[in-house]
Amino acid sequence: MNQPLSHPMLSIAMDAVAKGTQVLRDRYQKTVRVETKGLANFVTEADLDSEKAIVEIIRQAYPDHAIISEESHSDRADAADLWIIDPLDGTSNFMHGIPHFAVSLGYYHDGKPELGIVCNPVSNDLYVSVFEQGAWHNGVRQQVDPSENLSEVMIACGFYYDRGQMMQSTLETLGDFFRCNIHGMRRFGAAALDLCNVGCGHYGVFFEYKLHPWDYAAGQLFLSEAGGRATDCNGNSLPLHCASSICATNTKLHDRAMQVITPNWRKLSGYVGG
Ligand code: IPD
Ligand code: CA
Ligand code: CA
Repeated sequence: MNQPLSHPMLSIAMDAVAKGTQVLRDRYQKTVRVETKGLANFVTEADLDSEKAIVEIIRQAYPDHAIISEESHSDRADAADLWIIDPLDGTSNFMHGIPHFAVSLGYYHDGKPELGIVCNPVSNDLYVSVFEQGAWHNGVRQQVDPSENLSEVMIACGFYYDRGQMMQSTLETLGDFFRCNIHGMRRFGAAALDLCNVGCGHYGVFFEYKLHPWDYAAGQLFLSEAGGRATDCNGNSLPLHCASSICATNTKLHDRAMQVITPNWRKLSGYVGG
């Protein structure tokens, strides 16, 4: 790693991510056991084994730290030392042999993000951020896109697993964005990587009507260190204790993007938190 980052937990965090990504690399494009969590929402052996490998490293180094991890750990989000793990972000891509998925690991102290690491094990794209030390992609410091108009940017989105009202609202928002003459709309299937890619300046905006803290814990720090901003659809900071909507932008486009995203989200009131 050639970025000049320093944090007391960085080396353990990097080690944990390396172990998780090795598990995913070893299992990728091989037969893995799959279970269904809900409609089109799957968990594979790879999710579980990656989680086990990551948790083992963190537990060994910091036995009294709290861990929230998608598949099996749900300590309190208000713990002073908190690790938030998505052991495989982009499970559907992984299952279909699409090489766009990641391990995502965030460390929070007193509710504030201090470390965020996201890594795609196939491409070896590594996104590392430390609070007030910048956002680094493969050792190169990143900045968001400087555009001030929606008509100058590419936009990315995500669809939660819902196929009802939330899907309908998302589709309406896509139409509303296209009417703003955006360059295009992409749906890549791994929210942690989407947030990093806003940070790297590839998309001006990313939105999704429901994500969980493990999807954005690391990516939101990377984005803010790159000069971007992520909030829920009310403009509030993203919660660590529950699911939330998300609007992530290069900051300059935040208010404009919210004007497009929020009306369809409001139609969901009572249907989704945050
Ligand atoms: C999913 C991915 C996807 C997003 C879903 C997430 P998972 O995470 O980030 O892009 O649209 O809402 O749940 O389940 O693959 O870890
Ligand atoms: Ca995820
Ligand atoms: Ca996951």
